[in-house]
Amino acid sequence: MKVASLFSGIGGMELGLAKSGHATSLLVEIDPAANAVLSARFPGIERAADVRDSTTLPAGTEILAAGFPCQDLSQAGQTAGIQGSRSGLVGEVFRLAAKSRVPWILFENVPFMLQLNRGEAIRQIVDELEAMGYAWAYRKIDTRAFGLPQRRERIFLLASLAANPAELLFADDHEPAIPTGRPGMACGFYWTEGTRGLGWAADAVPTLKGGSSVGIPSPPASWIPGDGIYTPDIRDCERLQGFDADWTKPAEGAARPGYRWKLVGNAVSVPAAEWVGALIGGARTRVPLRTLPLAPEGKWPNAAFGGSGARRAVSCSTWPVAVKPIPLAGFLQYPLRPLSERAATGFHSRLTSGRLRYSPEFREALERHLAAAISGCWRTGTPPSCSPP
Ligand SMILES: C[S@@+](CC[C@H](N)C(=O)[O-])C[C@H]1O[C@@H](n2cnc3c(N)ncnc32)[C@H](O)[C@@H]1O
Repeated sequence: MKVASLFSGIGGMELGLAKSGHATSLLVEIDPAANAVLSARFPGIERAADVRDSTTLPAGTEILAAGFPCQDLSQAGQTAGIQGSRSGLVGEVFRLAAKSRVPWILFENVPFMLQLNRGEAIRQIVDELEAMGYAWAYRKIDTRAFGLPQRRERIFLLASLAANPAELLFADDHEPAIPTGRPGMACGFYWTEGTRGLGWAADAVPTLKGGSSVGIPSPPASWIPGDGIYTPDIRDCERLQGFDADWTKPAEGAARPGYRWKLVGNAVSVPAAEWVGALIGGARTRVPLRTLPLAPEGKWPNAAFGGSGARRAVSCSTWPVAVKPIPLAGFLQYPLRPLSERAATGFHSRLTSGRLRYSPEFREALERHLAAAISGCWRTGTPPSCSPP
């Protein structure tokens, strides 16, 4: 199908949709560095910068894709809500969809939008869709379901004038295959969010983010027991989102190299977009759904659907598929950087002064790492597990 993409970023949604057979004919993105990536990776496709200046969609658009800005809706962001200056841009999606009566709309955003202000954002979106005659279904999806070692949950909302998206989005369901403790298993965590949370992930990195509480986009860290504490290379983080390594390299012509972390953290995971893309226009499956009515003022569940009939909550997992996972330590291909002395010192003081829960082994490993960093014994390339003098 013919796709128009708003808030295209570095094209995670569009790459996934292309892999499932759809063709993008318009990319709308305001960020110059993201645009440098789009120019290199999607040459020859019509482009626009500011969605507020777009007046129409290309003739014959069948899917309108919009991973609209999340800063006002995310836990890590400003939480101004759906009225915020950035997330409020979702209104532009409805303005353009209404003009062309586009048959399908695909949204992606953070799961915190189900909770913030009692789900104000999701309520406003589905109210608007229903007023325009769309049937809709949404589901929280975890990137780990696609075999990538990144714990990343995002809401995918599919709306249609032509079909019932509930018959597509909930057709597949798997038990999450979350790894349990295995000796030597790598664990990911945030070293930047100290007292707010560790974001602990077993055999995976926590969600790659476009920003952090230290103000600069930064990688998560991973603890490899018996070895050390490292941060992964940007190329591995691109791979953790389903892109090829160096997908965002062209951004370096328009921004400082560190900006690539922000672009990658903001992106849609490619295989998740590919999975949704394969559903659109595919065979419909009538699955026996376990559903409950959605109370008008109640909590928004992880999955739901509605349209002309009543709104229903759906009981399903965040894993529509369960691709064999790749262990984190085996996935990371590029040189790892030991967490710097400065970063480890700051993280250690936040960890030990806060109310965070962590294992004694983890604290010992961090202290060993710090001692090795202070003694300088891995500045020369010796692994951080070496004994301090
Ligand atoms: C959550 S990111 C989307 C990421 C994208 N789906 C991807 O896979 O990379 C939101 C994007 O909206 C862009 N954006 C913000 N305001 C915009 C505007 N007024 N017009 C067009 N794009 C805008 C941001 O620069 C950012 O890249």
